[in-house]
Amino acid sequence: MKIGIIGQGYVGLTISAFSGSFFQVIGFDSNQRIVDQLNSGLSHIEGVESNAIQKLIKDGRYKATSDGRDISNVDIVVIAVPTPLTTDRKPDLTYIDAACRTIGENIRNPILVINESTSFPGTLRNFIKPAIEKYSNNLVAHMYAISPERVDPGRGDFNQKNTPRLYAGLTPEASTLTQEFYSKFCDNLVEVSSPEVAEAAKLFENTFRQVNIALVNEFAQIAHSLGISVYETLDAANTKPYGFMKFTPSAGVGGHCIPVDPTYLAAVAEEHGAPATFIRRANEVNLEMSKYVVDRVQADNGGSLKGKSVLVVGVAYKPNVADVRETAAELVIEHLRSRGAVVSWHDNVVGLWKGERSAPLTSADIVVVVTMHDSVNAADVKASAPYVFDTTGKIDGVHGL
Ligand SMILES: NC(=O)c1ccc[n+]([C@@H]2O[C@H](COP(=O)([O-])OP(=O)(O)OC[C@H]3O[C@@H](n4cnc5c(N)ncnc54)[C@H](O)[C@@H]3O)[C@@H](O)[C@H]2O)c1
Repeated sequence: MKIGIIGQGYVGLTISAFSGSFFQVIGFDSNQRIVDQLNSGLSHIEGVESNAIQKLIKDGRYKATSDGRDISNVDIVVIAVPTPLTTDRKPDLTYIDAACRTIGENIRNPILVINESTSFPGTLRNFIKPAIEKYSNNLVAHMYAISPERVDPGRGDFNQKNTPRLYAGLTPEASTLTQEFYSKFCDNLVEVSSPEVAEAAKLFENTFRQVNIALVNEFAQIAHSLGISVYETLDAANTKPYGFMKFTPSAGVGGHCIPVDPTYLAAVAEEHGAPATFIRRANEVNLEMSKYVVDRVQADNGGSLKGKSVLVVGVAYKPNVADVRETAAELVIEHLRSRGAVVSWHDNVVGLWKGERSAPLTSADIVVVVTMHDSVNAADVKASAPYVFDTTGKIDGVHGL
């Protein structure tokens, strides 16, 4: 069987690498630079090794392309394109629409279309299917299914094989084929009764995390005002063997999922007249953390940051990845600069970001740690400034949440 995977980013390339052992894979991406890089055997995604891509290419099992005609004779197509928010923070389905156009205009025989991109309930039935039908002039009756992606880039213990995968087809035939496809490289497939349940479950998983992170971020502020350690209190609560799950405070949430997916759920809830006040407020609390951190740093440093050199350590949204999407570091830097601080950042995993290069981990007046990669040495961070504020809780004996 030949599989077309639209989008060769974190999700699409990961699926390409896993499914390439069993199927012939065509990785379609609209970014020519990524296509060229992949065809030369270089992976741009943590967790997908370049030598795995090289082996697939050598065995004739993988090819990247930006030409839609190359997916015209696939048996299954998987959609793995971005689903961000618009500038007014509404669901942005333009990438999904473009993927539907590629499918509709190029695939003339009926196949199975699986969506892995995260979106609100009803996207498969009411957006993807009609869009593909429109772009193919209603000439082809495809089968449709959803299987939301749960990949956690950079994670070693859970991967495509051992992470349970939800799925549902619009028809029983679509469900059966979807099960057959994923069962080749995933051990635990969980069928749900409708695509809407699978779509909603994915959003709820990430909303659960967003709300709990907001709760612990608010609690960090409460603990500080009470003069107690938030970390010791959380560890104490975590001795309860049931009914508690530990989340840790931070400068905010980043990445493509936690700051974005709950807003998809809130938007569709409000469209249906259901309140999403909790979700909206959690988002605000997480966004406000960057200001809280900078307020604390300013208060500790004589009430003014004007002219002070501040080094922000870690600008990726989480440890050991180069992903800076929605990173809390961006807001921290904005707040610092708006108060007159002279800001640089150190992150050797990211290297280059917004036209600026990672600065060396050397002397500054103030260091604010937003993300600690494993490659960063705590002693080096401590030695780099007389005042260090750590938002990660990983460095002992410095200021922090
Ligand atoms: N990254 C994660 O950890 C993760 C986890 C679970 C779910 N998801 C979801 O998976 C989806 C994809 O996310 P990602 O992290 O892989 O994004 P990404 O930005 O890493 O990759 C998306 C790729 O799609 C390409 N692309 C954009 N429009 C295209 C088009 N019309 N045709 C072909 N290629 C196109 C981009 O060039 C890019 O290479 C999103 O809905 C996201 O919410 C992501």
